[in-house]
Amino acid sequence: MLFYFALASFIALRFWKWYTSTRGQNPLPPGPPSLPILGHALVMPRKDQAGVFLDWSKRYGDVVHVEALGQSIIILGSHEAAYDLLEKRSVIYSDRPRFPTFELPRTTFTPTLHGNAIVKLLSHYIAYGHRVASANDPYPKIAERVTEILFGAGTPGLNSVDILPIQVRPEQEELQRGAFKKVQNEMATGTARHSFLSKHLEEYISSGKQDDEHLERLSLAAYHMHGVGFETTWSTVESFIFHIMRFPEIQKRVHEELDRVLGGRLPDYADRDSLPYLECVIQESERWHTVVPLGVPHRVMEDDIYRGMLIPKGSVVISNIQSITHDKRVYRDPETFLPERFLPKPQGFGEPIPDYNFGYGRRVCPGRYLADASIWIVAASLLTVFEICPKKDKDGLEVMPPLEYNTSLTSHPKMFQCQFNLRSEKMRATIESLA
Ligand code: HEM
Repeated sequence: MLFYFALASFIALRFWKWYTSTRGQNPLPPGPPSLPILGHALVMPRKDQAGVFLDWSKRYGDVVHVEALGQSIIILGSHEAAYDLLEKRSVIYSDRPRFPTFELPRTTFTPTLHGNAIVKLLSHYIAYGHRVASANDPYPKIAERVTEILFGAGTPGLNSVDILPIQVRPEQEELQRGAFKKVQNEMATGTARHSFLSKHLEEYISSGKQDDEHLERLSLAAYHMHGVGFETTWSTVESFIFHIMRFPEIQKRVHEELDRVLGGRLPDYADRDSLPYLECVIQESERWHTVVPLGVPHRVMEDDIYRGMLIPKGSVVISNIQSITHDKRVYRDPETFLPERFLPKPQGFGEPIPDYNFGYGRRVCPGRYLADASIWIVAASLLTVFEICPKKDKDGLEVMPPLEYNTSLTSHPKMFQCQFNLRSEKMRATIESLA
């Protein structure tokens, strides 16, 4: 009985959606053929969503509409469309769908993360004031588990967990509360280090307020900062190592630039502007393989008309960042790893730095400055000290790992082996002096 009731409600909802979407003159954006009742549920890709969406964008245009189990989804395949909607019309495009797997509280993050004051710190330390002491430390493991829960299911709003919610929350809540309690205990015994959480808890305590909801938001913000910051930044660094290893000529040019500018010392942020080629290589690595290929979905809060097409209220809006960073109209020969594309003309092609890796409009990533600075200092330091090469086999031949990635919400290279060779004895002495 319940089944028939659910089926009847579903058909009525589909009819209502169809009726309201055709009530005006404006058609929905084009998309692949759909089935009655099920819509596009059966053609929604489980793997390589960014690749399939790119194919759809090539076939149907840079604004594609699909519908899965009654949920309208708009896929934006060009910077122009993403910028027009998510940036210029951000007043109505900045909502998020409700994801059981993924909820990101923004307001508490933003003021803390802008600026360079905390860029040297990594996510465990920033969120909870915890210094990772050894390979057995539990915090990276917690971050990995958070990451698995948050990112493992795929892009929020498009994965099976969000379309058909199951219970993932209890485990998340346990991890989140455990880490929160630890900082509270450390504050009580005077052993807490300065961190995002301790700073906000101190402010809360001195305000004299009693607001359980505020405490819950703080706890969630620290938990997500830990997981989100860790996963995205680490995936970007991992990709950088994976990419630079594949292009020894490019790596050699970076080494020459580093040696010329630094004269054998370790880099500092003040050196950044003097190392333009390194900058291009980092940006090209982020463009060539985007770490959050489909961004994080937005939700449109009102019916909207774009290029004469109806974008229905409540649609999930996805920007296909991987396709935007490979747009032939913007990047010449986009499949080629070509760092100098970002250099100004005539040395390079003056192509745009892919800032859209961090999203669009009011929901743009609040961790972008932190991420950008952390990635730069890691990349600059690694290449100052090491030459990164593929691992050799027993015959002494280099074995280049295949160009393969694991992709869910974020994307990073599949497990690979490489070798870090010290570039000089002087560098050995430099890093030994730091230990
Ligand atoms: C290379 C590293 C990173 C990349 C590529 C990245 C990318 C993104 C993207 C694409 C979004 C969605 C933006 C949109 O909806 O238009 C996002 C949102 C977000 N990111 Fe990052 N991110 C990175 C690092 C970080 C770090 C280090 C933190 C925190 C420490 C962070 C915290 C957040 C938060 C809280 C949101 C949600 C913002 C909101 O919903 O308003 N991200 N990020």
